[in-house]
Amino acid sequence: VSVLGLGGLGGALAAAFLQHGHATTVWNRSPGRLDDLVAAGAVPAAAAAGAVGSSPVVVTAVSTYDDVRAVLEPADDALAGRVLVNLASGTPEQARALAAWAQARGAAYLDGAAMSGTRPVGTDDAFFLYAGPSDAFAAAEPALVSLGRAVHLGDDPGVSSLYDTALLGMNMGVLTGFYQAVALVGAAGVGAADFASVALGYLPFATGLLSGHARQIDEGRYPPDEGTLEVLAAAMDHVAGASRAVGVSTELPDAVREVLARGIASGHGDHGVASLAEIIGAAGNREAVPAGRP
Ligand SMILES: NC(=O)c1ccc[n+]([C@@H]2O[C@H](COP(=O)([O-])OP(=O)(O)OC[C@H]3O[C@@H](n4cnc5c(N)ncnc54)[C@H](OP(=O)(O)O)[C@@H]3O)[C@@H](O)[C@H]2O)c1
Repeated sequence: VSVLGLGGLGGALAAAFLQHGHATTVWNRSPGRLDDLVAAGAVPAAAAAGAVGSSPVVVTAVSTYDDVRAVLEPADDALAGRVLVNLASGTPEQARALAAWAQARGAAYLDGAAMSGTRPVGTDDAFFLYAGPSDAFAAAEPALVSLGRAVHLGDDPGVSSLYDTALLGMNMGVLTGFYQAVALVGAAGVGAADFASVALGYLPFATGLLSGHARQIDEGRYPPDEGTLEVLAAAMDHVAGASRAVGVSTELPDAVREVLARGIASGHGDHGVASLAEIIGAAGNREAVPAGRP
């Protein structure tokens, strides 16, 4: 495996490959970043072309897609027959353009997304998404599993950055909900750590709903098993009221309450909470929103 770009992410990737026994060649624009990895057994490449030419799987972890091009253009001739795995963050369009560029040079392209920062890289707690041709993923997978859990999302190289964005937004919803809750109980003197230990026991209830709610969304039917939108609107009024009463911000519960109100106004008042997916989605943002079937 070759790793080009040894910043926060690339350094962790190279260290994980080495840890799992892969012969690893490393290159970085500023040579100072190579020392620890070379001491751990990595082979330094003097130029990007040398790094690309050294391994069947070439991983790039530089800042942007433009930087990936800048790094690989001098290595143009060395790319044929290799699997290029790019982990820089970008858009689906950038991923598709880089895939076409790599393919024109005879390389297979996988677009990757590192979903869990750098600390857990090399363990099963790290989570990586990849998109691109299945045979390229099959070829690179024995190396990629050294980095953490590796999920292949299909042939379209644009899909991993789409999932990356969607999952980031979802995670921020979970985390900001946690911070709201911490602030609320904190106002009553409960420490964040004490609250977290209880919240962790509760969260599986929420994650356990995802598959069922996904089915409801796909079928357009929303049984109110976890309460109707009317009931949940009253519950969110309570969250906002309880927060306000102790001087905690109500921006987040107010935003949720607003979506619930739009759902109720659209005829979903006696439907389940998964009907909010229609309200948030494109259909729900048109002038007239037809109510889904109960
Ligand atoms: N860090 C994370 O947890 C994380 C997680 C998910 C995704 N990512 C993505 O991974 C990419 C790298 O992130 P990072 O945290 O590793 O960044 P970083 O610590 O700032 O490192 C940036 C790396 O890119 C290199 N670089 C930048 N421009 C270059 C150019 N024009 N030519 C050659 N090398 C260039 C730098 O080389 P020099 O050392 O010479 O400056 C350095 O190796 C970003 O797209 C980031 O969004 C990072």
